[in-house]
Amino acid sequence: MHSPESPSTPLIDLGKRYWLPVYRPREVVLDHGKGSRVWDAEGRDYVDLGAGIAVNALGHQDPDLLDALTTQAHKLWHSSNVFYTEPPLHLAQELVDASGFATRVFLCNSGTEANEAAIKLVRKWASQQGRPPEQRVIVTFRGSFHGRTLAAVTATAQPKYQESYEPLPGGFRYLDFNDVPALEAAFAQGDVSAVMLEPVQGEGGVLPAAPGFIKRVRELCDQYNALLVLDEIQCGMGRTGTLFAHAQDEVTPDIVTLAKALGCGFPIGAMLAGPKVAEVMQFGAHGTTFGGNPLAAAVARVALRKLGSAEILANVARQSQALRDGLAAIQAETGLFSQVRGRGLMLGAVLADAYKGRAGEILDYAAGHGLLVLQAGPDVLRFVPPLNISDADLAEGLARFRAALQDFPREKP
Ligand SMILES: Cc1ncc(COP(=O)(O)O)c(C=O)c1O
Repeated sequence: MHSPESPSTPLIDLGKRYWLPVYRPREVVLDHGKGSRVWDAEGRDYVDLGAGIAVNALGHQDPDLLDALTTQAHKLWHSSNVFYTEPPLHLAQELVDASGFATRVFLCNSGTEANEAAIKLVRKWASQQGRPPEQRVIVTFRGSFHGRTLAAVTATAQPKYQESYEPLPGGFRYLDFNDVPALEAAFAQGDVSAVMLEPVQGEGGVLPAAPGFIKRVRELCDQYNALLVLDEIQCGMGRTGTLFAHAQDEVTPDIVTLAKALGCGFPIGAMLAGPKVAEVMQFGAHGTTFGGNPLAAAVARVALRKLGSAEILANVARQSQALRDGLAAIQAETGLFSQVRGRGLMLGAVLADAYKGRAGEILDYAAGHGLLVLQAGPDVLRFVPPLNISDADLAEGLARFRAALQDFPREKP
C-alpha cells in the first residue's frame, strides 16, 4: 500500500520484524485524532466508525478526558492497592450508583481481567454454597467472546480461540445463543452455578439476545440458585442507547463486567458485584497491581459521567437511526448485505451469501477510501463509532463507505 519512501514503510517494517505476529494490522500507521477523525503518518484523514474496537466512545481528544488525565498526571500516577488514592474511590461509588444493582466494584485493567474476576467470583460463591467443584459449571454461548486469558478464552465458546491451548480449565458448558430449551435442559442437570453472556454478542457477529431471552435466563438462575453474569465490555457504557445494555432487557444481574469505553482509550476494566456475591471475596482472595490506577480511574469518572448523560444517549438513538438509514440505502444500491442488526451504535451489516467470508477485504477497501470500520468474524461488518459522532462525520463516513463498495470487486480476485 505504501511506497518505499513513505514515512509509514519503515514503521510497518518494525512491526513485522519485532512484534509477536499475533495481529494482522492494516498497512496504516495512525498518528493522531480529533473527534471522530484520525490521521495517518502521511497526513491522510479517516472517518473513525470503529473507535478502536468500541473503545473511543467520546472520540479522540475529548477536552474533558484530556483535562482529567493531565490534571491527575501532574499529581500521582500510581500507588498500587497497598494505599488508597482518590480517583478509584469515587469511581467505585459512581459505578455502584449508576448501576442500580451493584454494591461493590473490583477495578482492573482490561476486559479479560474483569471476566477472569467474574469467573473466580462465581466459583468462590459456589464453593461457599457448599457445591463440589463438579457442580460449579458456568454456561456460556456459542459465538461469545469473553477475552484471551485462559479462563476467559475457555468461557469464549468459539473453538478458533481455544485451539492448541489445551488443557483448558474445566467447568464450562456451551449452548446455542437464544436457545431456551437447551438452557432449561442444561439447568436440569443440576450442576450449573452461573450463566455468562453478552447482551449483544460483539466479536461473534453483532448479535443481540432475542427479546425476552435474558429475562428467561434470569428466571432459570433464580429457580436453580445460579448467578447471572453479563459481559457488557463491548455493549455497555451507553453503546446500545442506555448506559447499561441490560436496562433494555429489564433484568437485574448479579455481576456485570465493563472495560473498553469505560476508559475511552485509557486501559481500565471493572467487575460490578451485586448483593448476592459482593461479600464473597475477602482479603487476599484476588488482586492486581495496576487495577484502579489513579490515571485510569480519573479518566473513567469523566467517561462514566459523559456517556451516561442524556445528551450522549440521545445522540446514540439519533445516529443509530441515521446509520441504519444510510446502510439501508447502500444495501438497496449494492445488494451486498442480507441484514443490518444490532442495537444503538453497535450495528452489524451481514454480508449476503455471495460475499460471505469477504468482510476483511471490504475493510481494506474502506481504509483505502478514508474510512475505519471493523469486522465481526468473516461475514459481518461492524460499525461502532464514537457515541458523540456528529451528523457531518457520520454522513461523510457513509459516503466513503459507499465509494469503497463501488470499487470493491464483486468477483473474488
Ligand atoms: C464482550 C467482550 N468481552 C471481553 C473482551 C476482552 O476485552 P480485552 O480485550 O480488554 O481483554 C472483549 C474484547 O473485545 C469483548 O468484546
